[in-house]
Amino acid sequence: MTVAPPSPAEAARAQAIAWIGQAPKRLLIGGQWVDAVSGKTFETLNPATEQLLCRVAEAEQADVDAAVAAARKAFEAPSWSAMSPHSRTRALLRIADKVEAHIPELAAIESLDNGMPLWYATAAATACADIFRYYAGWCSKVLGTTIPSDGSTLIYTLREPLGVCGQIIPWNVPVLMASIKFANALCCGNTVVLKPAELACLTSIRLAELIQETDLPPGVINVLPGFGPTAGAALAQHLGVDKIAFTGSTAVGKQVVRDATSNLKKVTLELGSKAPNVVFADADLDKAIATAVKTFCGNSGQVCSAGTRLFVQESIHDEVAERVASEAATWKAGDPFAADTKLGPLISARQRDRVWSYIGAGQESGAALRLGGKAWNGPGYFVEPTVFDNVKNGMKIAQEEIFGPVLSIIPFKDEDDAVLQGNETTYGLSAAVWTRDVSRAHKVVKALKAGRLWINTFGEADPAMAFGGYKQSGWGREFGAESIEAYTQAKSVMVRL
Ligand code: NAI
Ligand code: MG
Repeated sequence: MTVAPPSPAEAARAQAIAWIGQAPKRLLIGGQWVDAVSGKTFETLNPATEQLLCRVAEAEQADVDAAVAAARKAFEAPSWSAMSPHSRTRALLRIADKVEAHIPELAAIESLDNGMPLWYATAAATACADIFRYYAGWCSKVLGTTIPSDGSTLIYTLREPLGVCGQIIPWNVPVLMASIKFANALCCGNTVVLKPAELACLTSIRLAELIQETDLPPGVINVLPGFGPTAGAALAQHLGVDKIAFTGSTAVGKQVVRDATSNLKKVTLELGSKAPNVVFADADLDKAIATAVKTFCGNSGQVCSAGTRLFVQESIHDEVAERVASEAATWKAGDPFAADTKLGPLISARQRDRVWSYIGAGQESGAALRLGGKAWNGPGYFVEPTVFDNVKNGMKIAQEEIFGPVLSIIPFKDEDDAVLQGNETTYGLSAAVWTRDVSRAHKVVKALKAGRLWINTFGEADPAMAFGGYKQSGWGREFGAESIEAYTQAKSVMVRL
């Protein structure tokens, strides 16, 4: 009897499990994988099964001190500081090639640790290679300027790296977050201490192993799995850190800002959102509806830029609500490795309970529950797609970031009303408008207060396109030319001729 060869998904899963089962997962400090000084470890679970995957070394203050010292040494060492821009480009391209060669494995580790469906994890891991390539191209284009003067002087600027960058990332798309943070910092000549999220840190560790294989000088990247209030806070407060880049909740972002006052390190923040997705009656409804569902269900809604407030023009509200609900009902939840699974579990029991409390709040506030609201039967922190319609923008479910597959459909009258309500939020990360009227499309995107806008699409990304928040969605930008400023500082020079 012949046994059928494993499917690519099964093969990737087996490879990921083999890697997870190897020797303990440790901290990367100065090019060495080491145990935490305290010897402590913590568990990481598979949110689809609630079972233990493995234990991971738990960094605390002493480990942060060691990693920051290693990053400082690497920053000052000629092997990194004197590397030519072209060599840096090649270094980032080697990382991109490594990542690309390991997409199935990285995706499978991510699916196991975070719970996201394999198709989603594969798309995210694939994007990582492009992100390293995008920033590889920037290395030789981090330009200073020459400044007009009267001829008796020469004035110019140098754009220099910041130094040691602390980076704190969340659990929602970990390998993508780690890649963005590494690539942006390294292309500008910085060194990094990355603290992945305690709930899903394995792909950050695997990514760092792959990067180590490309012969990056030791200490250029350091990785410290650990908890927020200990390792994260130690990094944000550290006197030896020049910049802290944080992605996560707005509440923690504010704490990071307070902690960063210790030495006034530079701070960039990518925080929460409650993005408006505005559909006018003249829009291509087939596309608008399919995309509206994809944006609130993708990654089970655990996406900072997700379109969680769907504004629909009054005349088509009922039709769109009906169609959105029936499309969302096709988002089958289940085993992240199954080919027909579109929706994975939420990251944790806490996150599931949090999302449930919002579903309850929606019902109590009088919004109409069109889809969902049924508890998941079985293991895993699953929440099925949930759609409320006839929501009022002032309701809690329309104002607070839920981070689950929960949509608020809100009717609007006309352009002014859409803009007014769309902007009635403390956030401003992203927004979209759907219409066939070209003038209206551009007027509305100009009026919406958010950092990334889409017309007739939602959620598509290009590393050349800046990403970041208006209002309480953050400080600074990632991606695009703006992100080079976020990882460099200008030095101005006058020469008396
Ligand atoms: P969180 O903001 O606590 O976690 C993000 C990262 O911050 C993790 O690495 C965590 O260890 C770290 N952290 C936590 N406390 C810290 C501190 N005092 N100092 C330094 N670092 C610290 O997010 P959490 O609690 O896991 O999720 C709660 C809510 O936050 C979600 O429901 C969602 O609304 C929002 N969130 C938003 C994200 C985004 O990308 N905008 C990502 C993750 C969560
Ligand atoms: Mg996990």
